[in-house]
Amino acid sequence: MSLKKGIALCLEKSKGSFVSGGDLAEQFCVSRSAVSKAVKALRLEGYDIEAVTNRGYRLPACSDILSAEGIKPHLKGSGLNITVVDSTGSTNSDLKKAALDGLSENNVLIAREQTGGRGRMGREFFSPKGTGIYMSLLLRPKMPAKNALNLTTAAAVAVARAIEKVCGVEPKIKWVNDIFVGSKKVCGILTEAAVNIETGGVQYAVVGIGVNVEEPKSGFPKDLKGIAAALTNSAGFKNSLAAEILNEFYEFYNNGELKGEFYNEYRSRLFILGKRVEVMKNGEVKTALACDISPDFCLLVEYDDGTSESLSSGEVRLRLYEEN
Ligand code: BTN
Repeated sequence: MSLKKGIALCLEKSKGSFVSGGDLAEQFCVSRSAVSKAVKALRLEGYDIEAVTNRGYRLPACSDILSAEGIKPHLKGSGLNITVVDSTGSTNSDLKKAALDGLSENNVLIAREQTGGRGRMGREFFSPKGTGIYMSLLLRPKMPAKNALNLTTAAAVAVARAIEKVCGVEPKIKWVNDIFVGSKKVCGILTEAAVNIETGGVQYAVVGIGVNVEEPKSGFPKDLKGIAAALTNSAGFKNSLAAEILNEFYEFYNNGELKGEFYNEYRSRLFILGKRVEVMKNGEVKTALACDISPDFCLLVEYDDGTSESLSSGEVRLRLYEEN
């Protein structure tokens, strides 16, 4: 680990308290001026490190720049390789490329900003700097491609649990991949996978999770107002939330296997069951009643003409039907 990373980890671990320059120098076997240089470099990266004579260095308790060093103290396990970058086009695109180059699973890529964040169905995912968690997980699951949707639904339950734990609110899920708090979307999930044609198995999967943690300084763009929201107006918990999401997801996923019971929780967090929805499929829009979810996460709907259908996530766009 580089000196800069070591110092960042130390300051994150004792966030809110001072650590003396002398102690840091001793711990890393370097001179005090090397410590001061590393602190300067960290400040340039956005860390708001305070320095007080005779006391040392301190990260304020409310400091919340996303970093691997900030996430690690909150992680339960230690087997993940977490990389945090300041900015990239799309963490999903980056990990997909890396997967093709042979990168192993247990790699997580997080960006503080995405300039080309992608959502489902070719939509853009608004990813402004410093206010969200834009995270992708590279998996090499031993599962048939037809089960790959379970990765998204497991991730949805993991995100909902993590938000509930860290923020104390009760998130709901909009089938299949959106997390809502109240009537607004706070998180979207995009799973992309490559299939081995010969075996029908998943070669790799990238689960992309985008959480709107803080309100962007200039607010959400016009087209997202009324649809998207942030979890908070203040800073302070991006690192712990990112860690909790990982803790919860890897409770379900271990060594290529997706285990654990999350169907019941997924179903109980769905807010559309029993509600009227608009189903947009093959260019046609029909209203229906959202009746239930099948064990393989298909949505069972009943149309106004009495016919029923089991919808798989790839083929429909769903809108809650607003009654006037
Ligand atoms: C959606 O709402 O339709 C899904 C949004 C998924 C966004 C995340 S952010 C991290 C990862 N990288 C991307 O480009 N997209 C996903």
